[in-house]
Amino acid sequence: METSAELRSAFLNYFKQNDHEIVPSGPLMPANDPTLLFTNAGMVQFKDVFLGKESLNYTRATSSQRCVRVGGKHNDLDNVGYTARHHTFFEMLGNFSFGDYFKREAIHYAWEFLTKVVQLPEERLWVTVYEEDEEAADIWLKDINVNSQRFLRIGAKDNFWAMGDTGPCGPCTEIFYDHGEKVQGGPPGTPEQEGDRYVEVWNLVFMQYERDKQGTLNDLPKPSVDTGMGLERLAAILQGVTNNYDTDLFVKIIKTTADIAKVTNTSAASLRVIADHIRSCSFLIAEGVVPSNEGRGYVLRRIIRRAVRHGNKLGIHQEPFFHKLVQPLIESMGQAYPDLMDASERVQKTLENEEHRFSETLNQGMRILQEDIDKLSGNTISGETVFKLYDTYGFPVDLTADIARERQLNIDEPGFNKYMEAQRERGRQASRFDIAYDASLAVQTRSEFTGYEHMQDQAVVQELFVNNKSVKTIAEGESGVIVLSQTPFYGESGGQVGDQGVLKNDVAMFEVADTKKLGDVNVHLGKLTSGSLAVNDRVVAQVDEKQRRAIVLNHSATHLMHAALRQVLGEHVQQKGSLVAPDRLRFDFSNDVPVSEQELERIETIVNNQIRENSAATAKTMSKDKALAAGAMALFGEKYGDEVRVLSIGEFSVELCGGVHVQRAGDIGFFKIVSESGIASGVRRIEAVTGDAALQWITETENQLSNIASLVKASKSAAKDKVAQLLERNRVLEKECNQLKSKLASQAGSDLSKDAIEIDGLKVIAHKIDGADPKSLRDTLDQLKNKLGSAAIVLATSNGSKVSLIAGVTKDQTKRIKAGDLVNAVAIQVGGKGGGRPDMAQAGGNNPAALDAALQSVPDWVRANLR
Ligand code: SER
Repeated sequence: METSAELRSAFLNYFKQNDHEIVPSGPLMPANDPTLLFTNAGMVQFKDVFLGKESLNYTRATSSQRCVRVGGKHNDLDNVGYTARHHTFFEMLGNFSFGDYFKREAIHYAWEFLTKVVQLPEERLWVTVYEEDEEAADIWLKDINVNSQRFLRIGAKDNFWAMGDTGPCGPCTEIFYDHGEKVQGGPPGTPEQEGDRYVEVWNLVFMQYERDKQGTLNDLPKPSVDTGMGLERLAAILQGVTNNYDTDLFVKIIKTTADIAKVTNTSAASLRVIADHIRSCSFLIAEGVVPSNEGRGYVLRRIIRRAVRHGNKLGIHQEPFFHKLVQPLIESMGQAYPDLMDASERVQKTLENEEHRFSETLNQGMRILQEDIDKLSGNTISGETVFKLYDTYGFPVDLTADIARERQLNIDEPGFNKYMEAQRERGRQASRFDIAYDASLAVQTRSEFTGYEHMQDQAVVQELFVNNKSVKTIAEGESGVIVLSQTPFYGESGGQVGDQGVLKNDVAMFEVADTKKLGDVNVHLGKLTSGSLAVNDRVVAQVDEKQRRAIVLNHSATHLMHAALRQVLGEHVQQKGSLVAPDRLRFDFSNDVPVSEQELERIETIVNNQIRENSAATAKTMSKDKALAAGAMALFGEKYGDEVRVLSIGEFSVELCGGVHVQRAGDIGFFKIVSESGIASGVRRIEAVTGDAALQWITETENQLSNIASLVKASKSAAKDKVAQLLERNRVLEKECNQLKSKLASQAGSDLSKDAIEIDGLKVIAHKIDGADPKSLRDTLDQLKNKLGSAAIVLATSNGSKVSLIAGVTKDQTKRIKAGDLVNAVAIQVGGKGGGRPDMAQAGGNNPAALDAALQSVPDWVRANLR
């Protein structure tokens, strides 16, 4: 057996010959299973079958399942590149019994396959069992006659397998292959077991329990079998190599990478890491995962960045290289995985984009890290450096840990976690501000707002408040409120959120988490993170510029949208509420009906046209009357002073507004509405994004479309039609399926006549028909009535949580017994109630568990109630 592809087929065929159904690999992202990040074993697609929640029309199965083990209970990422046998992505060959065979057959099949089909020498095979599993030990020692020198009993850590923290699990027995003395490592259970000499090839799990959230083991409905063998490991053995990366699955990828990097030593660890990572990344992207900062997307990003860093280490500095490995991967695996082949273009693009993104900061980050390492006195990279690399240069923590490990260094992970926590805390403070702050704070001084022109200013501390009390100084670690002689910080008003930033001098740093407006005075709420501050101290007040710029775009866009709304929907549109935040704008307005898609499109077009017009935004102060006479929009019910600020964007929008705006409309860049909804009677809400956020929204939406298109195997423009076709096909299949179900049910029903028992001249039947729907129950009832002559019949079906019942009495018998009474007698036993005509009545119930007993009680009930 030369190739991995041959091995894959030999495995599946061996089990097929032994009456197993060959089942295709399930997806990498398990459907409807929030307990798992990725499919990490062959049994995942059968989880519900093991748990007794799903039944299949076979009880033996075999598969070659693609698996990813990064994150979660089974995480091999840290081992990749350091051992000959670990991967983030691998294929698991498995055979499964769902309440069919158990330990004996499972062990016999495994032994026969290894020793007879692929002909491994017995003296190379070692076996472990769970220390409490005497049954399995007996099978190995007495039936198989495995040499007791190569047989070990091991504890739960290695020989009790569980899919995750909850779910199916059970004791297992493992088969190892000894690569011989030329490879380092010791037998399982010894301190040297982590070496590559003794390699676990096959794990046979005897699925017996389900672990619940409390950790309790509950018996599964039926003892079952789940086995898993790494295709790559067995391929290595059969191809006569001691390292998985030397098999046909990897050599092409490694060769291509080595050519790009111009290295000749093809066993370099970095080449192996890259070859491993291109497999997991490509399969994940093919299935629709997109690099991002959370969840599965972040796992993908971490793997890609790790691969790119290893490329950098090999000396690839110029062009993105990682996406070029998709081609050799497809040459090696495309035939077995046509989905991967179909998605190849998208996979390459996604990888190339992510590599570009990371390359911009990789070199700088590496320089910072090197400087830090050069200065290091111990052997631990500080949490602060790890955090800086993460936060500013996009280095995932495991990437920094990987670099540290290469240099025999550690990272201070607890230290890093502290910085992370502090950052989260800052985020929490910014969003859910909990500094003691009373809106009736007795501010004594005045403060000029200079933020229309500047984002930085010099100022003097005029007043300090801690816990709402006026104080003279504020100490490190204390939260409080600061009033300055003048400030560029905008205080929350008119929908525009308050600015964030810092107030600092040589000795103190006050982080401003929010700015409020008390009368005309903007006050800074925040925390003194270092030093101390006193009244009369001088500080530099620095607004967070990036945030402010984003806010400003959203504020001006809100004005443009307000004017556009009135143009499109009518002059009745009145502002009812507004939020202008850095990441989005939200605008509530009066309108009785939802804004249609077409209207939204027009509003968007008008605003974007205005952006391209690029008119200047100008502010003028004038008397209120003059402003209103000039047509400036004012908020109904809002109090304005006699002097007002009028903000115009060209001639298109004129509004009374104290907020901060763009210089020219073109600064907004691009405007995109992202939602329209109703929030109260007669009030609608639109949310929209601008600038960078709008572009990002488009990119994400496009990615989603690409993913849908690739899932349904269509181009983006044809995806909608393809989805419609699939839905239609699904509808037709569902209909066919229902017809078949009902036909089967009525066939089953018509056979029931022989089960009738006779009670005083009346034929009585009470029966459950699996899979029937209400219509087929009725049809069957009619057939039985015709067939039996004088009869009283109850038929039932259940879908697992509900019971449907129908009862019928032939016309000649309705004086003696009523269908309504009969159905009710059964219904009350299954938690329901029913009624109907004397010859036909229906009922429902919600306790399927009581159904069998309820049906069995029917003859007695008839005997007792027959007139
Ligand atoms: N589920 C077990 C494993 O992953 C056997 O398939 O090792």
